[in-house]
Amino acid sequence: MCGIVGYVGRRDAAPLIVEGLKKLEYRGYDSFGVATIEKGLAFDKHKGRISENDQSALSLKGKIGIGHTRWATHGVPNDANAHPHFDCTGTIALVHNGIIENYAELKRELNSRGHTFRSETDTEVIVHLIEEEYAKKKDLFLAVQNVVPKLEGSYALLVISNNEERMIVARNASPLVIGIGDGETFAASDMTPILEHTERAMFLEDGDIASISGNEVAIYNHGSRVTRPLELIDWSLEDVKKGGFAHFMLKEIYEQPQAFYNTLRAVNSETFPDFVHNPASVTVVACGSSYHTGLIFKYLLEESCRIPVRLEFASEFKYYPPPVEGLVIGITQSGETADTLIALKQAKSHNCRTLAITNILGSSVSRVADATIFMRAGPEISVAATKSFIAQLAVLMQMVNNISGRKCGDMLIHAHQAIEEILLIDLTNAVSVCTGAKDIFYVGRGPFYPVALEGALKMKEISYIHAEGYAAGELKHGPFALLSPETPVIALCLPGDTYGVMISNIKEMKARGAPVIAIGCDGDSELPDIVDIFIPIPRTSPFVLVLTSLVVLQLLAYYTAVALGRDVDKPRNLAKSVTVE
Ligand code: F6R
Repeated sequence: MCGIVGYVGRRDAAPLIVEGLKKLEYRGYDSFGVATIEKGLAFDKHKGRISENDQSALSLKGKIGIGHTRWATHGVPNDANAHPHFDCTGTIALVHNGIIENYAELKRELNSRGHTFRSETDTEVIVHLIEEEYAKKKDLFLAVQNVVPKLEGSYALLVISNNEERMIVARNASPLVIGIGDGETFAASDMTPILEHTERAMFLEDGDIASISGNEVAIYNHGSRVTRPLELIDWSLEDVKKGGFAHFMLKEIYEQPQAFYNTLRAVNSETFPDFVHNPASVTVVACGSSYHTGLIFKYLLEESCRIPVRLEFASEFKYYPPPVEGLVIGITQSGETADTLIALKQAKSHNCRTLAITNILGSSVSRVADATIFMRAGPEISVAATKSFIAQLAVLMQMVNNISGRKCGDMLIHAHQAIEEILLIDLTNAVSVCTGAKDIFYVGRGPFYPVALEGALKMKEISYIHAEGYAAGELKHGPFALLSPETPVIALCLPGDTYGVMISNIKEMKARGAPVIAIGCDGDSELPDIVDIFIPIPRTSPFVLVLTSLVVLQLLAYYTAVALGRDVDKPRNLAKSVTVE
């Protein structure tokens, strides 16, 4: 996820773009760049944050300009990979938010036609393709219009050329909003950079391409002129920063369908190194939520492929290294967790092949592991892991899929839609039970046991209610002593081999007086009658049920924490990246 801003109008573009990019830094901040039309194209781009280094960008002149703040996906954060990118003639500049999935093939073709690439990004292919079309048409709009059908993936594009007094923009599956001012027009990833200049905005739709000048916005879709409603946006700046959500955590929960989809699309059999294709055994090292994704992976891989998976807390592994061999996978969204880095180094010293899964390009873990797979969750601001967790699962489910010979591929294609449906679920009754509790138990079996662990972790870290996850059969071996009408149990009771035994477990809990909140499937005829609160979710495949039931528990933790007035995005005593042992 990156942020883009463009301006065409009567004022100097650079200061407006620089201020706009600072507001979009929540979308990425590892590098930035601005280009304006002075006499030719002038530009300034650097590794780092624009909020810490804006002076040279501010000095650019010209009334037309584009800017970008980056969250790296292809190519490490450095000056060359920072946007804008330029064609070979240096007369066309472009910024892009999204991922071009077929860039490797396009780049090979462009190389063979003599183009020179200056970056490792997927984005740069677009500007070289535009260069070729511009040479034929001498019209920037027509050039962009001819290029977008060649692009597979997601994009919001802003393009300028020093031969034209306008900006061309295009959108597919990445957000793009146009702000209409008085003799000036803005384009940006969201309203944040626009709001202090105008409240009038148009939201572009997939397939839209627009030609933008200070006084006119002409939008086309598949060659036909279209109009988009002019909306009055009366949000406060603070609202807009979080995209209208009350907290980053809720925003990030809502971004999960996209995060899952992007990651699933970006990871395929070619992404996995050879040593992952058919491992004899696998060891996973991780901490916290990442450990829970590892545990879900263990259940799914062992069941689908009969390959043994050993799971280790990274913090234990390093002091008490078990006798490991073969493939060791380190899962860490931040890529900086000290315990996981040390565990991977130790695995390497035992001659294991190591694979890292992380959300942060260029993070330390990629320098430690033999190979790294990057998920595409986008920046996660809230301390509690949500969309990075879902994106980790997208990588790991693809890995199971790949090793098992694509047994589960098709059902994952629609998983993001199933996750989307969950976002609107009504949890009012369950939240009111949770807010009144001092202790909560979460139980599940099989892959729903780690979902229970993760649900409990989310609840305790953001609501400060004591919550414990258990394998459902374990509760009677001790924790039953704690059950009472004041101790709710959240039970994951989904279809499958363990459904019957889960029903028995729930009855045992009810017999000890505990209120039970159960997550089950639509149309279940037994469960609703034996529990206090039944939360139905759509009946889908087991892999997808893992995702959807997890999202219910994230939302339950979130709404409980909000009801209790907690500082949801910055829970006490916690940090996003744990770089100490
Ligand atoms: C919980 C959470 C933590 C992290 C843990 C590992 O919401 O975010 O439990 O999962 O600190 O972090 P990474 O994945 O960065 O290694």
